Amino acid sequence: MTSNTPNSGEPFVPTKLIKHFQANHTTRDAQTSGWSALWDSQQNDLWDRGKPSPALIDLIESAPWPSRERRRPKALVPGCGKGYDVVMLALHGFDVYGLDVSPTGVETARAYAAKQLDAPLAHNYGEGNREKYPKDQRGEVTFMAGDFFKRDWEGKCVREGETFEGFDLIYDYTFLCALLPEMRRDWGRRMGELLGPQPAKLVCLEFPLYKDLKLPGPPWALREGIYYDVLAGGGTGVFDNDEAAQSALQRPNKGPLERVARIRPSRTYPQGEGTDHLGIWQVKSW
Ligand SMILES: C[S@@+](CC[C@H](N)C(=O)[O-])C[C@H]1O[C@@H](n2cnc3c(N)ncnc32)[C@H](O)[C@@H]1O
Repeated sequence: MTSNTPNSGEPFVPTKLIKHFQANHTTRDAQTSGWSALWDSQQNDLWDRGKPSPALIDLIESAPWPSRERRRPKALVPGCGKGYDVVMLALHGFDVYGLDVSPTGVETARAYAAKQLDAPLAHNYGEGNREKYPKDQRGEVTFMAGDFFKRDWEGKCVREGETFEGFDLIYDYTFLCALLPEMRRDWGRRMGELLGPQPAKLVCLEFPLYKDLKLPGPPWALREGIYYDVLAGGGTGVFDNDEAAQSALQRPNKGPLERVARIRPSRTYPQGEGTDHLGIWQVKSW
């Protein structure tokens, strides 16, 4: 498989997004400025899907989300972009924190949220489910400009008199694949720090699973074994062939999290249809 689109079989042609990062942003530090430059030049259409994740909507509408106390569940969406999933979760009763490294991205998200919270579009709900989530049960939305790998934004996720005990839900979609492969281990470590104790869950919509592991990103190609390696296996999650990525699934669980379920969603974005999976993780039980 050498293609960067599902089942195309065509030779690889670097996209505008890949060329942008290859030109100036190949190091870890330069990567964050690479994303900010795209936001500042209004090129967020290069990855924008235009609506929240159908797979996540279906998951959260399937059962009430467990939270430890008698309060609204608290969610984090790192690398939230325009905030589609942030808003959708708030409409479903979560207090949601959307984090993005780009201040322009955060401004764009705030504007999107203001409109949607006032008059939500149908794409925020599963078919026929809108009435189950009345206005007076919505949660709050907070957008923050910050780097996921730093801790300086964490204080904003705690209200006065509260101690921070981690999020009840963290959702990752096209955030891990936006990062350089060498950042994956730290991504897994941070997820372990930010996720609350059980029954809190990290939900990853795994994408892109079809892309050749040798090809450049973003999006960087991912596999089930890569998620497993960084979250449960305690590894780097860096593999350049499918066999090696698959064999990571046999590693003993030495990482911060354990996998609870992995499901093929019945609805997802067209870009991941036929390959996307939802991985659901929790802090390891001993
Ligand atoms: C591919 S986009 C995905 C956006 C969003 N999840 C969506 O589905 O529309 C990746 C996002 O991650 C943000 N980002 C990249 N590195 C980051 C970091 N270290 N901390 C926080 N956000 C970051 C970028 O600015 C960009 O908005």
